[in-house]
Amino acid sequence: MNFYIRTMKLIDGKAVSEAIKNQITDSVNQFTARGNRAPHLAAILVGNDGGSLTYVGHKVKACEQVGFKSTLLHFDDNITEEFLLNEVENLNNNNEIDGFIVQLPLPKHINADKVLLAVKPEKDVDGFHPVNVGKLTLGLPTFVSATPLGITKLLEHYNIETSGKNVVVIGRSNIVGRPASILLSNQSKTGNATVTVCHSKTQNLKEQTLRADIIIAALGKPEFLTGEMVKEGAVVIDVGTTRVADTSKKSGFSLKGDVKFDEVAPKCSYITPVPGGVGPMTVVSLLLNTLQAAQNRGN
Ligand code: GUN
Repeated sequence: MNFYIRTMKLIDGKAVSEAIKNQITDSVNQFTARGNRAPHLAAILVGNDGGSLTYVGHKVKACEQVGFKSTLLHFDDNITEEFLLNEVENLNNNNEIDGFIVQLPLPKHINADKVLLAVKPEKDVDGFHPVNVGKLTLGLPTFVSATPLGITKLLEHYNIETSGKNVVVIGRSNIVGRPASILLSNQSKTGNATVTVCHSKTQNLKEQTLRADIIIAALGKPEFLTGEMVKEGAVVIDVGTTRVADTSKKSGFSLKGDVKFDEVAPKCSYITPVPGGVGPMTVVSLLLNTLQAAQNRGN
């Protein structure tokens, strides 16, 4: 019988994001020392969805930490699509703003595709505009959607090889699953993987995940990925952040990932926790994109 001890490593997204924030702060200081104004990110938030309020709050706070300016435009959820398109146009034309995001989801009466299409690609630091998605697909430099970018930064930080590896992405959203699959299959340092995108119509998902060297769980179903679906030594990246009622918490909820952590973690070589894994990396990646947008206009 073979015995071996696997040492599972917890991926510390909080620590990695803090280290990158320090680098960004240095870059901002150099940028402003050359006579440029500080990078400036704006965020549009429509309505009062608890998750969105929290996420946008984190983004604004992170801007302060690294010396960016930030502007939050918070509107009632009964605003019209026309009003929102007008606000987007104002930000497109405002030379004091380097980049901006429209926090999703938007209320149902507003066509999100139409709004995202209205964002000037040069200011689209979320990387959601079709021009930027197209550039990503072609492997050209562009703003990459923050969560997939954050995931590749984590893989890079921990020297996790992607080249030639089998990656299974569960979920095909425009924000995470789809761009992550493109990024990881592109010819790049954190790419060159053989990527399989799984989704709600995938048959025998377990057969796919059991082959995976790296699993990215991004479907938004708490504790979906169980121990029996993961091979020994796999790397598991958990993108889920579902709010689940929890009376032991002051807030009344706790955040649950898409991975049944207690079952999956012992089988992994690396795994991200929730919270403290991918979440902080999403925020810092948005800062990186905004710094890039500012540097594109500065000297
Ligand atoms: N909603 C969930 N994730 C995101 C994100 O990365 N950006 C925006 N704008 N909205 C989101």
